[in-house]
Amino acid sequence: MMSHLQQTLSSTTKILHIVIAIGMMSLLAIGIYMTEFEAFALYDLHKSFGAILLILALTRVMWRIKEGWPSTIGNMSKVQHMAAKTIHWILIISTILYPVSGLMMSIGGGHGLAIFDLEIVTATMDAAGEAIPVNGFIGDLGYNIHGFIKYFVIGAIVVHVIGALKHHVIDKDETIKRMFSVK
Ligand code: HEM
Ligand code: HEM
Repeated sequence: MMSHLQQTLSSTTKILHIVIAIGMMSLLAIGIYMTEFEAFALYDLHKSFGAILLILALTRVMWRIKEGWPSTIGNMSKVQHMAAKTIHWILIISTILYPVSGLMMSIGGGHGLAIFDLEIVTATMDAAGEAIPVNGFIGDLGYNIHGFIKYFVIGAIVVHVIGALKHHVIDKDETIKRMFSVK
């Protein structure tokens, strides 16, 4: 039996979910690719889109505080419900922690911040063009967080997507339709 609570989600919830989901998955892929293959040309693109994603993620956090989490549909055990909620928390926190740690690494490390060509924080360079850290501690902390949470966040996304598909394929409830419907 389906509950009749909240059969539709607000367009704000749906639009922010899909834009941030695509953004996060792309930035994870670009981040791993560019570090693995030393594709330094992609760094500015990664940082620019990452900084923009932070603005969207902060908007979404404020939206969740205002609106609350979507209510559950379908028959879910208490354990399943708690698992889903935990993953939602991990995911939404990661949308803030990733860009914030990126900014800490970049700005703290003296590389500054530019969103495409718009310079927000100037880089500090020595005569040889090497970055001079503004705050080495913040820079290193950002670097470590940014690298450390990778597998954790990818794991959470995998579980989240498998969970969503389970609702659709096995439980045959409206969970996926409700999040992705356009009307
Ligand atoms: C193909 C990829 C994805 C699918 C199919 C998907 C599907 C869904 C569905 C169906 C819901 C609604 C859950 C409910 O009704 O309780 C949901 C919620 C949520 N998803 Fe995803 N998702 C995907 C990717 C992502 C990614 C990459 C993130 C990472 C940031 C994410 C973060 C969230 C969060 C935080 C919620 C809770 C509601 C909200 O804040 O909008 N999702 N997802
Ligand atoms: C918003 C979401 C973001 C995601 C999901 C993300 C994800 C990643 C990932 C997965 C890596 C590869 C790490 C590794 O394999 O060790 C990476 C590297 C990197 N990211 Fe991000 N990132 C984001 C935002 C940012 C922002 C806003 C900045 C800076 C302004 C940034 C700067 C960097 C830099 C400089 C590297 C390369 C680190 C190195 O050379 O080892 N990222 N990112």
